[in-house]
Amino acid sequence: MDNNYTVGTVMITQEQIYKRAEQIGAQITQDFQGEAVLVVGILKGAVLWMADVIKHIHLDDVSIDFMACSSYGASTKSSGVVRILKDLDNSIEGKNVIIVEDIVDSGITLNYLKQYLEGRHPKSIKVCSLLDKPEGRRTELEADYVGFTVEDKFIVGYGLDYDQKYRNLPYISYLEG
Ligand code: IMP
Ligand code: MG
Repeated sequence: MDNNYTVGTVMITQEQIYKRAEQIGAQITQDFQGEAVLVVGILKGAVLWMADVIKHIHLDDVSIDFMACSSYGASTKSSGVVRILKDLDNSIEGKNVIIVEDIVDSGITLNYLKQYLEGRHPKSIKVCSLLDKPEGRRTELEADYVGFTVEDKFIVGYGLDYDQKYRNLPYISYLEG
């Protein structure tokens, strides 16, 4: 993609995101009754969505951690290569891990991360993604909790970036042009 682009119209509003985060938080609360959960946010895109969801997880033992992995850089297509830039602070052995992502596109990133974390013998691993772009899928990976399904456009806002920009938009939009 060249530099002749603009941010399109609002696809999903902040209010819609808040409402969905509340529903998913309630679902997670129900699914993990009596259990402890570790919510793992994938930096940087998942930060806004993760903050919304965890406020609605009403369990006694909720902890959070973060991982960072290689992104697309200034390109809008996945290179298919995943690099761990920041790993978890603590052991996940025997824990219920919920990975929070901004978007599942090809599924390559999450597929890799899930396998990587499975090797540490957690009790369970679930995936909670703000967005799902099923047309981009190149693996079997499906998120367990999905905020919204989007069409095959390059999405920006609410944590999602293009060349590190637009993460601060309080809504979800797309690039056009
Ligand atoms: P995947 O490995 O192809 O599923 O892509 C995962 C990562 O690529 C996401 O965490 C995003 O950082 C980035 N990504 C994929 N699609 C988009 C998009 O439409 N807008 C912004 N980032 C995206
Ligand atoms: Mg990302």
